[in-house]
Amino acid sequence: MTIVEIGLPRRLIEFTVDGETVRVPEGSTILDACTAAGKNIPTLCYGDTLEPANACRVCMVEVEGTRTLVPSCSRKAEPGMVVRTETDRTRLSRKVVLELLGSATDLSTTPDVAGWMTECDAEPGRFGPPAAPSSDRDERRPGEHEIPDGMTAATVRQPVKVDNELYVRDYGKCIQCYKCVDACGEQWQNTFAITMAGRGFDARISTEFANPLPDSACVYCGNCVEVCPTGALSFKREHDKREDGTWDESRQTATTTVCTFCGVGCNLTLHVQDNEIVKVTSPHESSVTHGNLCIKGRFGWQHVQNR
Ligand code: SF4
Ligand code: SF4
Ligand code: FES
Repeated sequence: MTIVEIGLPRRLIEFTVDGETVRVPEGSTILDACTAAGKNIPTLCYGDTLEPANACRVCMVEVEGTRTLVPSCSRKAEPGMVVRTETDRTRLSRKVVLELLGSATDLSTTPDVAGWMTECDAEPGRFGPPAAPSSDRDERRPGEHEIPDGMTAATVRQPVKVDNELYVRDYGKCIQCYKCVDACGEQWQNTFAITMAGRGFDARISTEFANPLPDSACVYCGNCVEVCPTGALSFKREHDKREDGTWDESRQTATTTVCTFCGVGCNLTLHVQDNEIVKVTSPHESSVTHGNLCIKGRFGWQHVQNR
């Protein structure tokens, strides 16, 4: 959900979305207005606790009088705007973006993407079967590009990185949305343990010198995992349960409580399956955490299972 700070009263502005008049507080994005109007616009790189990165382009809409499609997640609504969310142009744009992403990236754990693909007849397979995973992706120099073989779809797949007991990095699922970089860096954590390395198709999220996480600046707050939209970053417990086929969200409950480790008062949401805590998140609308936690709140729950 979108965090709206309670500040000075804002005037309402009026514009139309798909022929309907909508009124939203000044400063709202087109996406905010569409969501409030019950429209379901696909988003991937949009983060409700982060500045828009404008990286994925699945949220594009048509604005009358504008030459190009505009990203609804970042474009502010203006009085008198005429917005269309479902046109031939928006559908074609979404289809191509999803096909390009789906042909290069493993989207199997990205929520909702399969439905969007079906809705716009996206066929990622038309670029050929996926090429084999690369084992040298971390070593590629900036600017160095792999020559495609023309028969298979080049992918960002690489071996899954399991180098610690808290979270796992599977960059074959990474859409390079920058959300983890922003959460780890100046927008929240100010740790700067992960960033983008490489250029073009060889761009990838990496630690300094591609070191394993325990040798990096990571402080294991897990705030990058919290914002990752694709499951490229996942909690180790979730990863292990997915691997052995026992991860089942339909059997999970989520209970929000207060962290007891220190006096900050962070809200924790405990996800429980079969009477076992399987992951901890934090409500994004919380004015204390905005979805962020420290290592103790995020990962310090194993003792609860000791009986
Ligand atoms: S690891 Fe996740 S959050 Fe980070 S850039 Fe990739 S998809 Fe985005
Ligand atoms: S998550 Fe960390 S900072 Fe927040 S209350 Fe718990 S121990 Fe304190
Ligand atoms: S969600 Fe708007 S550009 Fe990615």
